[in-house]
Amino acid sequence: MTEFAPLFSQDAACMQYSAIRRMAKFALHPGIISFAAGAPSAETFPAEDIRRITASILETDSRAALQYGLTLGYTGLIEVVVEFCRSRRSINAVAEEVCITSGSQQALDLVGRLFLDPGDAVFLELPSYIGAISAFRNLQAELVGVRQEPDGMEIQDLVDRIEGCQKSGRRAKLIYVIPNFQNPSGLTTSQEKRRAILEVAQRFGLLVVEDDPYSDVCFDPLTASGLAPVKSADVEGRVIYLSTFSKILAAGLRVGWIVAAKSIMAKVDLAKQSTDLCGSMLDQRIVAECCRQGVVERHLPKIRKFYKRKCQTMLDSLDAAMPPVVQWTRPAGGLFVWAALPDGFDSEVLLTEAIEQAKVTYVPGHPFHVNGAGRNTLRLAFSKESEDNIRAGIHRLAQVFKHHLE
Ligand SMILES: Cc1ncc(COP(=O)(O)O)c(C=O)c1O
Repeated sequence: MTEFAPLFSQDAACMQYSAIRRMAKFALHPGIISFAAGAPSAETFPAEDIRRITASILETDSRAALQYGLTLGYTGLIEVVVEFCRSRRSINAVAEEVCITSGSQQALDLVGRLFLDPGDAVFLELPSYIGAISAFRNLQAELVGVRQEPDGMEIQDLVDRIEGCQKSGRRAKLIYVIPNFQNPSGLTTSQEKRRAILEVAQRFGLLVVEDDPYSDVCFDPLTASGLAPVKSADVEGRVIYLSTFSKILAAGLRVGWIVAAKSIMAKVDLAKQSTDLCGSMLDQRIVAECCRQGVVERHLPKIRKFYKRKCQTMLDSLDAAMPPVVQWTRPAGGLFVWAALPDGFDSEVLLTEAIEQAKVTYVPGHPFHVNGAGRNTLRLAFSKESEDNIRAGIHRLAQVFKHHLE
């Protein structure tokens, strides 16, 4: 076979296969209960509304809907997002500060490409989202982990790491945070820490990338309204805010958005042109119409109830079955519970047994840690499985863990 390896770029050499994607293939095996699959449940997608709206767009507006469009997005959807941000997220943006992306994942890639040269430092929570880790690592950025407490990043650790980085002559560029019901830990950053993160960014001249896919997947609506995004307090344009319709409408439509300063948006436009020319105009029209017709608004209470019940079932099952030395988070929203075995145990090693003997899969916590730690941790997603399967799966997993822990 012809050997092409010498031809790959240095960026390509840095690319790694995602641990989540690797686990995803087990989810398809018959009889496996998957706590690995972190996708939103297809049961939450308003398929009938989307079918009706799509048919109507194709009937009345097919020429524009099937054509190329503006790189920064369909103007009708941008207007909807501006209003959505104002009313639901307390973010006052103008249309020129918004770009529609192919999910937040594309936004992470674009932001990384705009700001990161090889060796530039990004500060991320320990643990953090694998998709962001990949996007930044692919650019040969230096990924610096910041300790996470139950209420978000440990601010002194963040400051120490930025100072350490600057002292050693490296360039500190971005602080990446997922403040609401974080993937993977399920933790939420307190209002005080949101303020502190912005202050640290101001003090050291960094940008904050605020990734917020889950704020509307809160189990108690009061929790969400009580926590304003970092972006809502940003007067300097120092925060790049990312969000998505993947978890509140349909992930396969691939529609997310960025809110950022106009000067940053001009560069986003250029970077995006070379990626995709523009996103799907049909999908963007579908999402805009779903918002205008109140589909998202009507749908949210159902989604929240749906995940709240599943999460509670997982927490009750963990309480009932796990040995006391295992610890886990109690999320107020999102799709994930994060568990920790005692130090010295390796969740990746135990996974083989979990799959073969218990027919249960999860994602080991190690790949979510940019500092190589977290071998004793694991992510349990409660989105895919039925409540009966959650009970059975946690019970079976607990047997595997007990066998090793006792
Ligand atoms: C924290 C976080 N950011 C970004 C994404 C990407 O979402 P999408 O590209 O579907 O908008 C996800 C998906 O799970 C996520 O958990």
